Amino acid sequence: MEQPRELLSAQEIAKRVASLATEIDQQYVSSRELVLVGVLKGSFIFLSDLARALTVPHRIEFIAVSSYGDKESDEAGRVKLVMDVRHDIANADVLIVEDIVDTGHTLLYLTRLFEARGPRSLRTCTLLHKPARKRVENGLDYVGFEIPDVWVVGYGLDFAERHRTLPNICSIPPQ
Ligand code: PRP
Repeated sequence: MEQPRELLSAQEIAKRVASLATEIDQQYVSSRELVLVGVLKGSFIFLSDLARALTVPHRIEFIAVSSYGDKESDEAGRVKLVMDVRHDIANADVLIVEDIVDTGHTLLYLTRLFEARGPRSLRTCTLLHKPARKRVENGLDYVGFEIPDVWVVGYGLDFAERHRTLPNICSIPPQ
């Protein structure tokens, strides 16, 4: 298997995460209850770096979803809730934190799920966005990097559970 090739260095990621945290701090400076909801598994490293860079008080929740079948199949867009958040998010300022928005189906599912629970506000933050793969529209509030249509691994993202803990983000050839 060819080795992953660097797309974003650890330094570039750290700089962008810090600037996203500054924007988020400004947005939520008056928030009474900010809840970051990390979408497992891919977001776990991004969420932990982003959360530690914030100065505004916040709490952390996790949610896990999986998609049915492969993303090109007729079942594309069907998302299943695997693990819900632990605490009620009604009246809270909710920020969904994703590692990557690809087709957009997962984030659409999650925004509908949370909208129905009566948050005070609901926004979305993704480290990576692949516009070329977009199938559904999502209002993305914070985007770290727009990337080309290549498979990426590292900094939380995997290929068949490999490479998640690379410190940088790399592309790998189509398998
Ligand atoms: C990835 C990513 C998003 C989703 C985005 O998760 O973390 O949740 O895909 O894809 P979409 O925009 O096409 O819906 P993945 O299914 O790879 O699971 P993982 O995070 O557990 O690795």
